[in-house]
Amino acid sequence: MGDKNHLLYVVTIHAIFALLHFIVSDAVETLARAGGRQERWQLLRNNTGVVAMHMALTHENTVIIFDQTEAGPSQYRLHQRYNGRRCSTRSRADLKDGACYAHSVEYYIHGNNLRPLRFVSDPWCSSGSFLSNGTLLQVGGHGRGSQRIRYFRPCHDHLCNWQQSKRSLSDNRWYASNLLLPQHDRVIVVGGRNAYSYEFIPKLHTKDRSFNLPFLHDTHDEDGGGNNLYPFLHLSSDGNLFIFANRDSILFNYQRNSVVKTFPRIPGGGSRNYPSSGSSVILPLDHQDRFQKVEVMVCGGAASGAYEAAARGRFLPALSSCGRMVITGNNHIWKMENMPGPRTMHDMLILPTGHILIINGARRGCAGWQNAATPSLRPYLYNPKKSRGQRFTILKATRIARMYHSSALLLPDGRVLVAGGNPYNTYTFSNVAYPTELRLQAFVPDYMDRQFNDLRPGNVTIEYEGHSSGVAYGTAFTIHFWLGRRPSKDVEYSVYAPPFTTHSISMNQRLLKLRCRHTTRDGGGSMSAVLEAPPSPNVAPPGYYLLTVVNNGIPSLSQWIRFIPA
Ligand SMILES: *[C@@H]1O[C@H](CO)[C@@H](O)[C@H](O)[C@H]1NC(C)=O
Ligand SMILES: *[C@@H]1O[C@H](CO)[C@@H](O)[C@H](O)[C@H]1NC(C)=O
Ligand SMILES: *[C@@H]1O[C@H](CO)[C@@H](O)[C@H](O)[C@H]1NC(C)=O
Repeated sequence: MGDKNHLLYVVTIHAIFALLHFIVSDAVETLARAGGRQERWQLLRNNTGVVAMHMALTHENTVIIFDQTEAGPSQYRLHQRYNGRRCSTRSRADLKDGACYAHSVEYYIHGNNLRPLRFVSDPWCSSGSFLSNGTLLQVGGHGRGSQRIRYFRPCHDHLCNWQQSKRSLSDNRWYASNLLLPQHDRVIVVGGRNAYSYEFIPKLHTKDRSFNLPFLHDTHDEDGGGNNLYPFLHLSSDGNLFIFANRDSILFNYQRNSVVKTFPRIPGGGSRNYPSSGSSVILPLDHQDRFQKVEVMVCGGAASGAYEAAARGRFLPALSSCGRMVITGNNHIWKMENMPGPRTMHDMLILPTGHILIINGARRGCAGWQNAATPSLRPYLYNPKKSRGQRFTILKATRIARMYHSSALLLPDGRVLVAGGNPYNTYTFSNVAYPTELRLQAFVPDYMDRQFNDLRPGNVTIEYEGHSSGVAYGTAFTIHFWLGRRPSKDVEYSVYAPPFTTHSISMNQRLLKLRCRHTTRDGGGSMSAVLEAPPSPNVAPPGYYLLTVVNNGIPSLSQWIRFIPA
């Protein structure tokens, strides 16, 4: 064989091997997806009684669900009104009286059961945040509820209920957003219908009322139904507040009432906030840069004119585009990419693996009564670490449409609770395209599959110092867990702030990947890891977080951990 032929021979053999390798690895990939590695949908209950317009996971492993109270009967009948008066099944008036029905329930994850809760004023299209002690603060709503402040203190004994504060808001807050601030258990409430302002609970100074926010005037689109309601709020690592409304965003110093930065407008046309109802997250924060780099992602929304078109019964294709922008540092560019399809009214959740789940919503139209069509039945999974063009995976479809007033949230066992949907002002079940939806589902990501159980860290426990009820910022703490076989090179420790979820936004959601100083194998599969708590409340405001050990992409069940000021 001459040199030339030899070379050709070698090249050919290499090419064949490369091709074979490509085919084989591709086949393995396909097999992995077709075989065991499959996400699932579970139907948990046929009837939650109450539309899950708002949902929040408490540190007692229950989920608070509520709807509006003024829409008449729900599907959860009460024997008596909260003032004690009996509800008769023979009285026509009682059958129609909204006070004879629950409008909020507490769902017990372990028991898969419910109990009714009481509201004394209407929390329709409201907002909320968990305080550092795990109490849910919920604000605003409609009518007499629009300036109300309410608390829910989670309990063991099933006796707790909504409490209404005697204090009230300065402005009406209907379709406003909430965020817990790093200091003093203070919450900021931003925007709302006809509310071009923000305010604090508790107030910064006793005499304060609300503060004007011209940015909300500038982003308001009257004909489009607002398009700046439920603004996206994210806390940046420098302590400033990122506010996104419609297509624009600012970095805001809420202590000085001043705009620190105006970011470029997001490309892609249309609008991103209610009623266009795209969604937004901050990508996982990482100990490798001391949690300093903050990158915001915004996905989907509605086309320009979608709201007006929907009023005439035409449903325009939603936006497919997503933008990612680093809001820290000095170089701010929206990097755009497309989801596998158009989407509005979806939820974006950060999974313990650091992937983003995009779930619920519709392909056409926008938010509002009967404003959308063609449900998005397939969730998308987004891997922020992959290269552009490779990041999205289309997941298994559900059969249940989740239109306006649906919601989703991450559970401590790694599943995603999916509930609600009601494009009508009252509970409507017949002769409509998208009836009121009361079925409760869990979306079970493929990482929960039993075939990964030997990789799954188990029995995670957290060691608290002495009598402390939490871990102080910047300190080291030890956790223990169990792993049947050698840990992979890729073990991550994430903490996740449970959000208040409504109208496609998950307020206060964030995930941090904590630094691990070292791990030890204690024998028999027992492991200890010394982790570092977040350095400051700016990167993780005080409160309860879900701690998850993720071994090679397979998460443990999560445990609650509390970060407290030193
Ligand atoms: C829901 O209802 C269907 C039809 O009646 C029934 O087959 C199913 O078992 C129910 N599922 C649950 C979780 O209750
Ligand atoms: C948590 O803090 C809030 C606000 O200070 C307070 O109203 C509530 O009672 C506290 N909850 C518990 C369980 O201590
Ligand atoms: C882990 O927890 C389960 C259930 O609580 C228990 O049955 C099991 O023995 C524990 N395993 C180890 C290794 O501690």
